[in-house]
Amino acid sequence: MIQIGLQPSLRPDDIRQLVALARAVTGITLSESKTDFLMGRLGRRLAARGLTSYADYCRLLTNDATERVAFGEALTTHTTSFFREKAQYDWLLAEGLPELDGSGRLKGRDLVIWSAACSTGQEGYSALMVAHQARDRGMRTINPRLIGTDISRPVVGHARQAVYSRAETDGIPPALRPRFLLSSKTANDVHRIVPELREQSSWRTANLLTGEGLDGIAADVVFLRNVLIYFDAEIRGRVIDAVYRRLRTGGFLMTGHTEASHARRDGLELVRPSIYRKIAP
Ligand SMILES: C[S@@+](CC[C@H](N)C(=O)[O-])C[C@H]1O[C@@H](n2cnc3c(N)ncnc32)[C@H](O)[C@@H]1O
Repeated sequence: MIQIGLQPSLRPDDIRQLVALARAVTGITLSESKTDFLMGRLGRRLAARGLTSYADYCRLLTNDATERVAFGEALTTHTTSFFREKAQYDWLLAEGLPELDGSGRLKGRDLVIWSAACSTGQEGYSALMVAHQARDRGMRTINPRLIGTDISRPVVGHARQAVYSRAETDGIPPALRPRFLLSSKTANDVHRIVPELREQSSWRTANLLTGEGLDGIAADVVFLRNVLIYFDAEIRGRVIDAVYRRLRTGGFLMTGHTEASHARRDGLELVRPSIYRKIAP
C-alpha cells in the first residue's frame, strides 16, 4: 500500500544512527532532540531515493558512499556573506599583509589564501579583494592565489561560478564594487566577480575532518570561520590540527568571532580576538 502525504516517522534508533553518521561523515555534532531538523533536512533525501522509512535510509547510508556525500550536504548550513566580520579584513589590510610583505617570505612565490569552509565563495573573494588593495598600497610581494574548499558540491560549484545577486553583494564596500564586480547585461541585479579574481581562485570539495581533498595545501592566511561551531571538542581538535599542518609558519589563522577559543593550541599565538599567528614549524 502506498501512503500519500504521510511523513515517515523517526524512531529513537534511527535518530541515534543518523546522529552518529552525521558526526562520522561531516564532523557535525547534532543533539538527539533535533528530530525536526533531521526530518526537515533528510525528508527530501528519502524521497529522492524512493524510501519510505528512516531505517531503510540508515541501511542505505551504511552501504552507499554517494548517498553519504548527499547526506552530508543535506545537513550542512551555508550562511555566509561578503566581508562578514569585516574587522578581520581591515586587520589583514592594515597589519597582516604588511607583516607578510615585509617578512620577505613571499619573494618568488604567491601569497596563498585558503578559505577552508568556503560555502558559496564570498569569504574567499573578499580576501582576494583585500590582497589587491594591499598591492595598490605598494605591497609588491603580495601576488594572491585563493584556494576555496568545502564539503558540499553545490556550494563549491556556486563559488566557482561567482555569480551573486545585488543583495548578496551589498557587503562589498562601494569603492571596490566597480573594480571587482561585473553587472549582467541580461538580468537585473545580478553580478559576477571579475575574471582576474576568478582566475586567481581554485575551488574544490574537501572534508576538514577526514582530510580528503586537502592534499598539497600550504597557506599563508587561512579562514576557518563559522564551521568549528558545528563540531564537538574532539572533532574541533582534529580539524585544527589538520589546518595547522597546512598553515605556513608566520601565517595567520582567522576563526569566527565566537570560535576563537576553539583554536587555542600550541604553536598558535593570539594576535587579536579570533586571529592567530603560527609561530612554530
Ligand atoms: C556557515 S558556513 C561558513 C562559511 C564561511 N566560512 C563564513 O564564515 O561565512 C559553514 C560551511 O562549512 C562547511 N562544512 C561543514 N562541515 C565541513 C567539513 N567537515 N569539511 C569541510 N567543510 C565543511 C559547510 O558545507 C558550510 O558551507
